[in-house]
Amino acid sequence: MVDEFIITIDGPCGAGKSTTAKLLAERLGFIYLDTGAMYRAVSLKLDQLGIDLLDDKMIKEILENTDITFEQTEKGNRIFLDGKDVSDDIRTSRIDMLASLISQKKIVRDALVKTQRKFGHGKRIVVEGRDAGTIIFPNAQLKFFLTASLLERTKRRYRERKEKGEDVSFSDILEEIKRRDEMDTKRDLAPLKPADGAINVDSTTLTINDVISFMESIYKKKRQQ
Ligand code: DC
Repeated sequence: MVDEFIITIDGPCGAGKSTTAKLLAERLGFIYLDTGAMYRAVSLKLDQLGIDLLDDKMIKEILENTDITFEQTEKGNRIFLDGKDVSDDIRTSRIDMLASLISQKKIVRDALVKTQRKFGHGKRIVVEGRDAGTIIFPNAQLKFFLTASLLERTKRRYRERKEKGEDVSFSDILEEIKRRDEMDTKRDLAPLKPADGAINVDSTTLTINDVISFMESIYKKKRQQ
């Protein structure tokens, strides 16, 4: 029997949550859950189907008929939407914005939070998102809030997009991140904020390895208590 241990990592976009959570999970032998990817996958589906985002009835029906799974493949941990690997399709500027919008909807949050709780139940897991420590797993044994300055987060996103061959400008990315921060922190439902008891980690001047080693050391201390 695996003893349940939940580590949550919340924070704004570009703070390094995904990379950190993925590598920390690998190092500890935990399962990794990227909750943002789930909001992105739902956004992709609604966008592809051309659904009116105000049509809650239709969205509910689609959510009930949507299958989101994660699989470990030779390309790493991939997300599958209705059986199709959409891991690359969900990482575009369009889906960035749509996911921020769609994640404000109660109907979407209720459905995904339910799936996320089921996914984590009884496991040793690193969960990353915006509400992992506040709403999904308020009783998680270890919670982090990962941040970085706006400038540093913009630099990271810009580099990422350029490497993917997207034609983007630095100032556009800066504005996008500001808009998403605003949406994620000011929304009524599950706004982004540090969970009670979360350890704040500012990654502005830290390497990914620094961040993971720090988190790992806290985990080990916690395990000894
Ligand atoms: O972490 P990310 O950039 O992949 O997340 C995409 C969007 O989904 C983000 O704008 C906020 C939303 N999100 C959320 O509301 N709750 C989560 N637990 C994870 C992501």
